[in-house]
Amino acid sequence: MNTADKLLLFLKTHTEQWISGEVISQRLQISRTAVSKHVQNLKQKGYTIESATKKGYYFKQVSHLLLPEEIRYRLATENLGQKEISYFTETDSTNTQATLLAMRGAAEGTLVIAESQTKGKGRKGRSWLSPSVQGIYCSLILRAPFSPNQAPLITLLAAVAITETLLEVTGLPVQIKWPNDILLNGKKIAGILTEMSTEVDRIDYIIVGLGLNVATSSAAIPAEFRSKATSLLLSTGKIFSRVLLVQKYLQWFEHYYYDACQQGFEKIRTRWKELSAITGMYIKVEAFNHVYAGYVIDIDTDGSLLLRNGSGDTEKVLSGDIIHAVRRNTGKNIQ
Ligand code: BTN
Repeated sequence: MNTADKLLLFLKTHTEQWISGEVISQRLQISRTAVSKHVQNLKQKGYTIESATKKGYYFKQVSHLLLPEEIRYRLATENLGQKEISYFTETDSTNTQATLLAMRGAAEGTLVIAESQTKGKGRKGRSWLSPSVQGIYCSLILRAPFSPNQAPLITLLAAVAITETLLEVTGLPVQIKWPNDILLNGKKIAGILTEMSTEVDRIDYIIVGLGLNVATSSAAIPAEFRSKATSLLLSTGKIFSRVLLVQKYLQWFEHYYYDACQQGFEKIRTRWKELSAITGMYIKVEAFNHVYAGYVIDIDTDGSLLLRNGSGDTEKVLSGDIIHAVRRNTGKNIQ
């Protein structure tokens, strides 16, 4: 642990009291000038620390930013987020940055995270709105021991992990819309973008990008998307800790990922079906050059969607966008 981290830890474990610069300098074996310099740096990073002559320092509040030291503090994972966290105040896209790191050999579990993105990527060449400090924009690097055709299952895994996270932290009735949308009351609150590089029969690296609207204001959402998108703040009026959400997401992700590495994807498929907003619904899916229509009966072992069409046949949909979804009896729309 470097001196800055030691000072931060010391202050965090001595809250609700004044501590003199003298005491800190003795405990950390650094000069009082160094203490003052490190405290200034912490303040610049968004920590609220009061200073007064004769009294010393008073630690009031942690930073609201997604700083690596905050994410790592009491992070209950074995690997994900424990080694490298690459943090940006602003970047083009965390998926792009994660790809660059992966190409240079970054280890599995590396996390790239940003306060804002200028070229946030969504599925199918769409863009992902990334207003500063209002959301979570992050990408994980995995070196998954799977074959390339199992990659869609990693997207399902990420969808299950973020849904579990939101259920645990917020208690809100979030659901998954195949393949990668997370909905709250029928509106999109999060999305996942998985990109990979493969060898002939194995994945070299896979980048799992997550965008979650936490405190996104309605002003930040273009008018044409307001009926389709939401954030935790817009839906509840509450501010949720982004650091806690990232920590829990890494924990849930690791839990399911290790399970998949050892036992396969069955547990994830089962949980995905429980959390799915479309199980049993009549849907239409726009695929590359075809529109599929039918009742959702299952998710296949490779992550594709299984529909029962009007003739009673089972159709397999590998990828696409759900353009219509209604409940069997009520005719109630989900979006
Ligand atoms: C979608 O629903 O279309 C997927 C959206 C994924 C957005 C995230 S934000 C972090 C990561 N970096 C990107 O450029 N995209 C993903």
